[in-house]
Amino acid sequence: MLRRLHAEQPASFEFTPANLAWAEAQITKYPEGRQQSAVIPLLWRAQEQEGWLTKPAIEYVGDMLGMPYIRVLEVATFYFMFQLQPVGTVAHIQICGTLSCMICGAEDLMAVAKEKISPTPHTVSADGKFSWEEVECLGACSNAPMAQIGKDYYEDLSAENFAKLIDDMAAGNVPLPGPQNGRFAAEPLSGLTSLADGDTDKNQYNASVALATDIGDTLKRIDGTEVPLLTPWLKGGKRTGATPPKPAAPAKSAVQQAAEKKAPAKKAPAKKAAAPKAAPAPAETAAPKKPRTMKAPRKAGADDLKLLKGVGPKLEETLNTLGFWHFDQVAKWTAKEISWVDDNLKFKGRIERDGWVEQAKILAAGGETEFSKKSK
Ligand code: FES
Repeated sequence: MLRRLHAEQPASFEFTPANLAWAEAQITKYPEGRQQSAVIPLLWRAQEQEGWLTKPAIEYVGDMLGMPYIRVLEVATFYFMFQLQPVGTVAHIQICGTLSCMICGAEDLMAVAKEKISPTPHTVSADGKFSWEEVECLGACSNAPMAQIGKDYYEDLSAENFAKLIDDMAAGNVPLPGPQNGRFAAEPLSGLTSLADGDTDKNQYNASVALATDIGDTLKRIDGTEVPLLTPWLKGGKRTGATPPKPAAPAKSAVQQAAEKKAPAKKAPAKKAAAPKAAPAPAETAAPKKPRTMKAPRKAGADDLKLLKGVGPKLEETLNTLGFWHFDQVAKWTAKEISWVDDNLKFKGRIERDGWVEQAKILAAGGETEFSKKSK
């Protein structure tokens, strides 16, 4: 299937503050110089926010990760999980059309989708609520035919119960995911033939369905309101999103309290000679100060700021708009000035992360960096 960007695109894209915080935290998962590895999670988040992956969103992620747009486009167009056209506001239904499902009636499901949603896949229904597509095996073959709707699997489908599912969703309900024919999970249709005795305390739903019902809204897309969004790999297990409640200090036992009363207060050990403090990250601590800017490039023409690793076409445009056209301007930025530019680029920390100033010093002096060599 030819995967192209949709003909109609929105003018712009921006992560919501919660999603931006989440995305910036994701980038910290990867070692220095490998931040581009965050491209799939960030694209996925952008899709969750908008429903589909727009061109401005692809470029925004490219700018955020300092990737040429074509590299991000390669990822977005390669993976079928990325929707490159608008999808239904309620649900995008992915019907499995591989062998087991085909044998068991996937074509009947597609006929329902054609009738109820739209005659062609990837086309939003007249009321804007639904869209559908045929996908390859989703790994639930023993419950064929099946469809993925939102994040959940609806299995053991028939034309009738699938049509009812769509009607239910259109009416604002969230149908119970999992097998739709009364099966618990993937046991034989005729009932259990082994381990049947240990089945007396069977849960109401299988684990996947139970989790979906616990969450309460299986059709809902991630929108950044899911708190806490944990980033345990960051020092102190920093969370993004809402401030986590402080854990209560464990209560002291009576014996501990009595022992503390008796014991003389311990002298604090003499402080070791203070180790030289690591210089604080300037972007975090320095008060921003606007660097000297220029109204236009010099007569000889602007430098190609895209030769700085981490600067894509959009960022170059932004830098030009701010009044930066030349490597020697960037090379002179102080910590306070980096902080100011950082604030105006929206994505904090990237100037230092990619070492723009160091790169600019080399390029301004007529040298080459590994990146500039490759780019040329
Ligand atoms: Fe449909 Fe595997 S063939 S889930």
